[in-house]
Amino acid sequence: MLKMPSIQTNEFSKKAFSYTKHNVIQKKVVKKLIENIKSNPKRILDLGCGSGAVYEQIFWQIEEFTGIDSATNMCLLHTTNSKIKLINEDFETYEFNQADIIISSSAIQWAKNLDALFQKISKKTDKIAFSIFCDGTFKTIYEVANLKTFLPNKDELIKLLNRYFEFDYEIVNYKLDFEDNLSKFRYIKNSGVSTGVRKLNFKDTKKLISSYPHKYLEFEVMFIWGKTKN
Ligand SMILES: C[S@@+](CC[C@H](N)C(=O)[O-])C[C@H]1O[C@@H](n2cnc3c(N)ncnc32)[C@H](O)[C@@H]1O
Repeated sequence: MLKMPSIQTNEFSKKAFSYTKHNVIQKKVVKKLIENIKSNPKRILDLGCGSGAVYEQIFWQIEEFTGIDSATNMCLLHTTNSKIKLINEDFETYEFNQADIIISSSAIQWAKNLDALFQKISKKTDKIAFSIFCDGTFKTIYEVANLKTFLPNKDELIKLLNRYFEFDYEIVNYKLDFEDNLSKFRYIKNSGVSTGVRKLNFKDTKKLISSYPHKYLEFEVMFIWGKTKN
């Protein structure tokens, strides 16, 4: 049964096909996240699996891979085989099964209740690997447009994660160069990463595009590898 998607995941469903061509940063992020998992877990749960970027990076033998994503069109793009189970649901409300590791790349930042999500994850696994976009992402856009970001702050994330996990983390700042400002805003639109820029009217959007001062877009990503606290 398909559920009514939320605004955010509906955006992903609409953008599913262009997302696979505009996710330059997410691809770098998922590669780094997976290559630093050292334990070769056999039963994997991927929250916000999208079109399958996590599965594609797994380099060790596994028994079972479960991907959860509320955007139907993203699930439709995911690789399928006898080891893969795809669940078209919201990972915040869906009661998922136990796994050897819970991985989530570029998806957790949109959770409505991060504390509840981390608590649920801690009950379902011993190991975690997350990449989370933080509030340094599109920082200059938010400043120029005088908008407030919805993305989590890294210090607050660390505090929350500390309640349930022991972990190592790394913050990486990426810059993605563009030829002109219009291409930057097209990239944002097609990558499915909402900025809230749509709240602006036509005149203010035009002003923002013409006054954006950098050749690049900014991304701030926190990587977390850890285990559940006893
Ligand atoms: C930026 S994409 C990342 C996809 C993939 N993990 C990757 O690294 O390319 C984020 C994905 O998370 C999904 N997502 C976001 N919030 C979700 C939720 N609460 N429940 C299920 N899926 C969610 C979106 O539908 C989207 O496919």
